[in-house]
Amino acid sequence: MRKQTLNDLASRAGDRIVVRVDFNVPLKDGRVADDTRIERTLPTLRRLTASGARLVLLSHLGRPGGRPRPEASLRPVVARLGELLGERVRFSPETTGPEALAGARALAPGEILVAENTRFLAGETRNDPELAAAFAALGKHFVNDAFGTAHRAHASTAGLALAMRAGGGEAVAGLLLEREIRFLGDALEDPGRPFVAVLGGAKVSDKIAVIEKMLARADRLLVGGAMANTFFRALGLETGRSLVDEEGVELAVRLMDRAGDRMMLPVDCVVARRIGPDATTREVPRTGIGAEDRVGDIGSASRRMFGDELEQARTIVWNGPMGVCEMSPFAGGTVAVARSAAAATASGALTIAGGGDSAAAVRAAGLTDGFAHVSTGGGASLAFLAGKPLPGVEALSDAQATPRRPAGE
Ligand code: 3PG
Repeated sequence: MRKQTLNDLASRAGDRIVVRVDFNVPLKDGRVADDTRIERTLPTLRRLTASGARLVLLSHLGRPGGRPRPEASLRPVVARLGELLGERVRFSPETTGPEALAGARALAPGEILVAENTRFLAGETRNDPELAAAFAALGKHFVNDAFGTAHRAHASTAGLALAMRAGGGEAVAGLLLEREIRFLGDALEDPGRPFVAVLGGAKVSDKIAVIEKMLARADRLLVGGAMANTFFRALGLETGRSLVDEEGVELAVRLMDRAGDRMMLPVDCVVARRIGPDATTREVPRTGIGAEDRVGDIGSASRRMFGDELEQARTIVWNGPMGVCEMSPFAGGTVAVARSAAAATASGALTIAGGGDSAAAVRAAGLTDGFAHVSTGGGASLAFLAGKPLPGVEALSDAQATPRRPAGE
């Protein structure tokens, strides 16, 4: 890691530290529906509170558009965080300003205050320097543990890191951020081979940079999900009424030319007249898709073919589901890929799942422990895999020349 980490943080007991987390979690009926992102920040929070730090947590939730919206309040998240920590967590309805500052000052060593949704403030997504300075005023140092938001240059991410450093404080990576960069970085820098990348999801054009990067590095690129339909169209196959990224078809032709036999497309698919949780499905070879069909998943021959590749791999990076995996008739391909990757992990492969949908599918299949790492980042992991700089990381203090051991070990 080229950036400073918790090991570099020269803080003393009682120091107030601003921690940016990504608590952008799904809510249902006023409660947190999936607490993975909260749970994954606990090591950082516990380590800091154990050292006597007083913590002010900042996060966004949803896209409220720069004004307060009750349904995007962080209150339910605060309740869940308190349950997970087994401790009282304070809440500030103001994100910055005198009230937030008073709440922060009133903290005892080891206590945590969560400030309200940063995106209730108009300057957040514009990376307004004044707002960044107001965030920085909440503490002495800054810890960024929000990997999921690292691809955004917002006031509470990149802006806050720069403002904190400008005021003489430190801006370092938390344990989660450090772990994410280490796993994804290792997979890209020096992968054990064969290195197999699995890409799914809807649009070729959204993932073009990742596909190109993977073509340059991976030994095999397995393509599934609706993205495969676009490649079918590029091969001149019937795709019926399936989702096809029309703008991506020409691109798909070029990518296939470049990839040669390193790219593998599904050879069969699960189709239905209608995509729905109670759909009646058929399995057909990819040459047998009817004019009225919609492709919803990869078929069983493709699952075996992808499985053979995955089980021999030493490095696997997976982003995007193989089908409409949130509906059981179309979940089989995604679950099969997760199982094959888990088998590879068991025989020593470095396996990483990233992207909101594939991570959720891995969890739903109960296979999270079957991966070396399941990323908390959707857009952020895609940006990283595409080789794009992450502003939330770039703005942190640079590591000293002498390498230190990772803070997580
Ligand atoms: C995510 O869920 O991918 C992150 O929290 C970023 O959210 P955003 O796409 O609304 O910026």
